[in-house]
Amino acid sequence: MIFESIAQTEHEQVVFCQSKDANLKAIIAVHNSVLGPALGGLRMWPYKTETDALNDVLRLSRGMTYKAAVAGLNLGGGKAVIIGDPAKDKSEALFRAFGRFVNSLNGRYITAEDVGIDVNDMEYVFRETEFVTGVHQVHGGSGDPSPFTAYGTVQGLMAALNVTYGNEDVGSYSYAVQGVGHVGLEYVRLLREQGAKVWVTDINQESVARAVDEYGAEAVDLDEIYDVPADVYAPCALGGTVSPTTLPRLKCKIICGAANNQLSSDDVGDEVAKRGILYAPDYAVNAGGLMNVSLEIDGYNRERAMRMMRTIYYNLGKIFQISKRDGIPTYKAADRMAEERINSIGRIKLPTMGTAPRFLGRMRGNG
Ligand SMILES: NC(=O)c1ccc[n+]([C@@H]2O[C@H](COP(=O)([O-])OP(=O)(O)OC[C@H]3O[C@@H](n4cnc5c(N)ncnc54)[C@H](O)[C@@H]3O)[C@@H](O)[C@H]2O)c1
Repeated sequence: MIFESIAQTEHEQVVFCQSKDANLKAIIAVHNSVLGPALGGLRMWPYKTETDALNDVLRLSRGMTYKAAVAGLNLGGGKAVIIGDPAKDKSEALFRAFGRFVNSLNGRYITAEDVGIDVNDMEYVFRETEFVTGVHQVHGGSGDPSPFTAYGTVQGLMAALNVTYGNEDVGSYSYAVQGVGHVGLEYVRLLREQGAKVWVTDINQESVARAVDEYGAEAVDLDEIYDVPADVYAPCALGGTVSPTTLPRLKCKIICGAANNQLSSDDVGDEVAKRGILYAPDYAVNAGGLMNVSLEIDGYNRERAMRMMRTIYYNLGKIFQISKRDGIPTYKAADRMAEERINSIGRIKLPTMGTAPRFLGRMRGNG
């Protein structure tokens, strides 16, 4: 059964990790390492069944392959899950045991933070392996990726404006931003900085108040965000908000936000294209966070990070070109761009150095 699943999703390697002493049950999935070591976050979640955990790690690691490939990074796709309740089951031993498993892969998999995990947990993982990103800034880590993700989203937005309106004048258009958390609020700030009209909504009224008071956005009710006459709909909260029920209500010409998995299904993606709305594929637009942590591998530098975020503009441009070239919706064009890159690099039959990545920018205690 397991081989059937991983053959279907074309995974290279799936590692089941257990330690009774540390109360660890984890799965590490390396989906594809053609472009480089498989980087992807560690998620801790009280999965109801082991099958749920396996399915989640397979789905998420495959997504990372596509994201890294489109972002132009020399990274493959991987992910890890720990089966457990982040509120109750965390311990130093748990994360150090996990770290030893990561280390045993000698750089084939590089871990990072994901749902249920914070920088303190990563500190423990880091005691056992250097194949970790998202460590504390005192160790040469990159810190909170959200501002970079927001900045990268604006780069993607400019590429989308260019295709739709023939200019990149962010301030001349209006935006409906759903979710003003870490990324959404910064996105609002960047839009308002250019004088754009911005509507916002969030379940957290404090965040809404900040968007209104500090940045001059206009607040609307949760459900009203789909009805405002915005040129751009920017999902920055949950996935699946572009759906058969919301799509007919949207008046926008562009969908460009930071949330993951914005389309509720592929059919919706097809319908978005039929309606003449330009969809900036989520995983290409929100790659700023991944790009930022990837720079920890050979020495983190904020200036390099900002420069790298700007490549999102060109990546989106390529996706829109492929969409036009092949007559396919943009969400499919993004996948095609990733597959074309992986296949073309995978075909090179020349030897590589084959060494594990070296973390040159790290400062480790007493060395
Ligand atoms: N943080 C990053 O660097 C990063 C990178 C890539 C992708 N993303 C994605 O971007 C999205 C936002 O990430 P974040 O780090 O800002 O998370 P966050 O938790 O800080 O912000 C999400 C916000 O959405 C709000 N929200 C939740 N449900 C809502 C609803 N039904 N309607 C309106 N608002 C709602 C929350 O109250 C919160 O303020 C997520 O989908 C995340 O996966 C984030």
